[in-house]
Amino acid sequence: MPEHGPTIVTTITGLRADLGERRRSGQQIGFVPTMGYLHDGHGSLMRAAADDNDATVASIFVNPLQFGAGEDLDSYPRDLERDAAVAAANGVDLLFTPTVEEMYPKGPVLTSVTVAGLSERWDGASRPTHFAGVATVVSKLFNIVGPCRAYFGEKDYQQLAVIRRMTADLSIPVEVIGCPIVREPDGLAMSSRNVYLDPAQRAAATVLRRALDAGEAAVAAGASDPADVDASMAAVVGAEPLAELDYAAAVDPDTLTQPERLGPRVRLLIAARVGATRLIDNAGVEIEAPQPIGAS
Ligand code: PAJ
Repeated sequence: MPEHGPTIVTTITGLRADLGERRRSGQQIGFVPTMGYLHDGHGSLMRAAADDNDATVASIFVNPLQFGAGEDLDSYPRDLERDAAVAAANGVDLLFTPTVEEMYPKGPVLTSVTVAGLSERWDGASRPTHFAGVATVVSKLFNIVGPCRAYFGEKDYQQLAVIRRMTADLSIPVEVIGCPIVREPDGLAMSSRNVYLDPAQRAAATVLRRALDAGEAAVAAGASDPADVDASMAAVVGAEPLAELDYAAAVDPDTLTQPERLGPRVRLLIAARVGATRLIDNAGVEIEAPQPIGAS
């Protein structure tokens, strides 16, 4: 652990002043946006950013725009002291922790970024305003930080697709880098929301990973109709009394649509509620092309 933690900056002006100086001296800036309550999934993004860049900025901002009515905006876990220690241990130089007033000084935004076509299905079906809230805050953060590279987890696979497309469509000069999902030893994907789970729910929450395993097995066994793969995942969740399925879908990894027949690359997406907690997970599957007869 470094001797001192990251510099904590709470204002846009303060952050721009520091980063402007670094850019003038030729430093490349890596950026990791988060909502805090950091775990090793966030840590892995920070380490990747610190490896690739001269300076690493992480932000902690629980963005009201991406929470729907009745969601967990007010109860979202927060612990800045612990987060600063995690950021320090993972090579973060600057921690940007703005207030809601700093980010949205004029109150509700009149300008919103919508990535149509990628935002309506799957998570967007349950959370209709979510991805516009994410795209709007991430475009704002990109404009504030001006990073060379920005790091996002594949854990939020649809979010990553939305941000990649937004960045391309709006010609934002940043390289978006997707990083692998970090899991607990029993397979549960790390998430700040796992803290909501009581012990019985925590045990049941491994059902998402188990359902993805069943989906992978179905694909490996030759299933080509996505509905069959979806059903194999849904059956696993159906057998877990504490979990309620939102969706389980085998999709094209780029468009997130369901093809009539699965191609060689498939992404399995799943969301389920365990108690009041909504959890998501996903996995990539590559189907190997059959070897020509006689090939070794
Ligand atoms: P948050 O949920 O805090 O996640 C911040 C980043 O960490 C995201 O890119 C997310 O995909 C990544 N992440 C979370 N859990 C992970 C895991 N187990 N393995 C790998 N990466 C993981 O996602 C958000 O915040 C917000 O929507 C944000 C992009 C900050 C915009 O407000």
